[in-house]
Amino acid sequence: MADSQPIGVFDSGYGGLTVLKEITGLLPGHDFIYLGDNARAPYGSRSFDTVYRYTLQCVEWFFQMGCPLVVLACNTASAKALRTIQQSDLPRINPDNRVLGVIRPTTEIIGNFTRSRRVGILATSGTVQSGSYPIEIEKFFPDIQVYQQACPMWVPLVENNEYDAPGADYFIQKDIGLLMKQSPAIDTIVLACTHYPLLMHKISRFIPPGVRLISQGEVVARSLSHYLQRHPDLDGRCSKGGRTLFYTTDSTEDFDNHAAIFYGRAVQSRHLAV
Ligand code: DGL
Repeated sequence: MADSQPIGVFDSGYGGLTVLKEITGLLPGHDFIYLGDNARAPYGSRSFDTVYRYTLQCVEWFFQMGCPLVVLACNTASAKALRTIQQSDLPRINPDNRVLGVIRPTTEIIGNFTRSRRVGILATSGTVQSGSYPIEIEKFFPDIQVYQQACPMWVPLVENNEYDAPGADYFIQKDIGLLMKQSPAIDTIVLACTHYPLLMHKISRFIPPGVRLISQGEVVARSLSHYLQRHPDLDGRCSKGGRTLFYTTDSTEDFDNHAAIFYGRAVQSRHLAV
């Protein structure tokens, strides 16, 4: 993609591909580069400092690749690194470029879905500990009560191809049960980890009837499309050749084998050494 200015889409591993799939569906003319930091995944159990350092390193790489805009399609990176990158690093590295996350697009619309004003968040331990969802939802909808449940086994189940196995049922049922126990009035649950859509068919089986599940791919894609409409200068800097490149920091063979499950079609990745 010589001389192109693609939109960067980042995740700790494969999960962001569920978001990229929706984004490319909505913006088929734009160029994209996806980077999965598979060599250092999962991020969900890592410290703030580590997630921040890894994420910043990857954002700097996207900028070197010519990206004017990077989407952190990872809740953990959005929760633990985005604000520092936006406020401290961006003005120093490249004040004209932009880095967006997945938490704000989700929290700013959540009030449109819940009637009981009780919302559940299922996420990695890191995202839950950061408190980002309750903090952001409070800004937009102070009347909503937020309940969180960390699901530390869900990403490993997905990353290890066990998402369809009967063993996965135990962890999914358990964590949903722990969430609903906090408030049976929860009527909307956010799948606040980009890996979780792969578990959707099992999750749907264990949520009580009438509870609505929000998965982020479509929400983030719509929000990005609106953002580009509101920022025509930035959109003008994004190249539009309809191409998507894939990079992984780990084995390209493993990435290509897994990625199709998340992205819905075959991909051929390149390696990035970190
Ligand atoms: N997919 C990432 C998220 O949305 C988490 C995966 C990980 O733990 O690395 O939070």
